[in-house]
This record gives sequence, structure tokens and C-alpha cells, in this order.
Amino acid sequence: MNTTAATLLDTTFKKQVFEGLSANPKYLSSKYFYDKKGDKLFQDIMAMPEYYLTGCEFQILSTHTETIGELFRDRKNGLDLIELGAGDGKKTKVLLKYMTENNFNFIYKPIDISENAVEMISNNLAKEMPTLNVDAEVGEYFEVLERLKGFNKRKKVIMVLGSNIGNLKHPKAIEFLSKLKDAMLPDDLLFMGFDQKKNPQNILDAYNDETGITEAFNKNVLTRINRELDGNFRIEKFKHWAVYDPETGTAKSFLVATEAMQVKVEAINLTVNFDEWETIHTEISQKYNDKIVSWLAKESGLKIETSFTDEKGYYKNYVFRKD
Ligand code: AVJ
Repeated sequence: MNTTAATLLDTTFKKQVFEGLSANPKYLSSKYFYDKKGDKLFQDIMAMPEYYLTGCEFQILSTHTETIGELFRDRKNGLDLIELGAGDGKKTKVLLKYMTENNFNFIYKPIDISENAVEMISNNLAKEMPTLNVDAEVGEYFEVLERLKGFNKRKKVIMVLGSNIGNLKHPKAIEFLSKLKDAMLPDDLLFMGFDQKKNPQNILDAYNDETGITEAFNKNVLTRINRELDGNFRIEKFKHWAVYDPETGTAKSFLVATEAMQVKVEAINLTVNFDEWETIHTEISQKYNDKIVSWLAKESGLKIETSFTDEKGYYKNYVFRKD
């Protein structure tokens, strides 16, 4: 990352931590979960039996590899495959493998908020798929949208897997989808994963594992504030709490102060007072069904071309086109 981007990120982090911890009720953005340690914790989450999302999407991509791959194909000019929030790329590799083995002419452009993830995926692909043309980049969703417009010389396919869109409330999701639409030409596709509404217990369990991995992941934002912004959070004094509202389909995560305390964050000159049982809201993970996804698409000027689901119908990948 260049200095400007690094400084900007640093400044944004400071600004957003200041805002979130000064607000009532308090909040911090889940985008700050993802550093080297957070990436590792998230990989552990993806491997947990309770966190069904990854397995379901992996099953979808493995079962429908050819159909999906051929939807992406442009025999004349090839394509640019751009993935937002690529992470470790484990699921994407199924598609990449199919595409390289079946003479697709394409470049793969993974973009992720985590510098660490981008480095890992680049190294890993260079080793495992040396013929693949990879051009990775660090960036945030809303930040890279503008740059997407530059990919207009041939067909592009934009991928957002993992139900990453679920971190956005509906109005923000519509803003995000609309901007993706604005960057698309009529032949371009958007391929996106949406975790589906299901038995609320299964959803709650996915964000409430017994082993405490999700807890550590959630608390990583406090760890980062301590380390990067010279904070003194006593992390063990916070309780991870996840809830799911089956009516709205919103899972929410909190860190709850188990006693009254004062926390200092030196780098932003902030003193924060917590009452006993006061909360910090850290994440939403929205769940969907066809109706909600159709509505989001309509509001964003997109149309659903087709979709793929897993055996249990827990998860769905939709293919969108500009309407
Ligand atoms: C990567 C945002 C899709 O919300 O399910 C996993 C992150 N948080 N466990 C999700 C997460 C807690 C995940 N996303």
C-alpha cells in the first residue's frame, strides 16, 4: 500500500473510532475486524461446523462450476473477473481452476480491505496457478467502485461472495448495488452470494460458537484499538453477544461491558465511559430470501438472470445484469 492510502486508512480508522465510541449507543464498524489476526480468525470461522455459509457456497460453486463458468465466458474478447472481498479465495479457486483449464481468456482481479489477505491470495495463486493472470488490489467496497468503471474494454464479471453484502443495511446495500450497476455495461454480470433466512437457531449458532472463535473475531476490533491507537480496553471485561431477528432477517453482534469502566484511547485523545452492561454494536449480518433480493435488485436497477442454491437451500448465489 502506498503512503497516501495507508495514511488515509489510518485517519479514517481514528475518525470512525472516535465517532463510534462517542456516540450513544456506541458502535464500531466490522470492517475493522480484518487485519492479519482477524483474517486468521475469520478463516477459523469459515472452518467451523456452525458457520454453514462457507460450506454451502463451496457446494454451490463446486456443483455448478461449468454452468457458472460458461455464463461468464466471452469467446470473442475474454473477460475481466473482479472479486470484491476476495479474502483467502478458497471458494473462488474452484471457478478459477475451471476457467484456466477450459481456455478462458481472462484476468482475475481480487480486491480486499485487508492488505494481508491481498498479499496471501497473490502469493498463493502465483504458486498454485502459475498461468493465471492475477492483479490484486487493496481497497474498500465504496472506494473501488469508481475504478471499476475503467474495466470497460471487454466483458467484466463482478463477484461478491460470502454474503459480504450482509454487512450493509438495506439502504446502503441499494447504494452499493446501484453503484455496481453504474459501473456495468449491458454484457457485464454481477455474481453475488446471499445467505438465506432459515431456522433462526441455525443462524444464531453460526454467530455464537461455543469455542469462542467468533467472540475473539468480534473483539479483534478492540485489540486493534489497543495496539494501533494506544487504547487500554480490558478485553476480558466485554461479552460477545449475538442476536437474530427472524422478522427483519438481521443478525446483530455486540460487545457488552460487564462492569462500569473508563477506557482511554490515547492516539485520538479520547476517554470513554461505560456503564455496566453498556453495548458496542459491531456488526450486522443480514439474511435474505428471493423476495428481498428481487426488491434490492429492482431498487438498484438490476435484474436477476438466474440463481443457484445448495442442497438445503440455506444459501443462494444470484446472477444479475443491468436492467
Ligand atoms: C464475512 C461479513 C459475511 O457476517 O457472516 C462471521 C462475517 N461475522 N462471523 C458474516 C462474520 C461473524 C461474515 N461476513
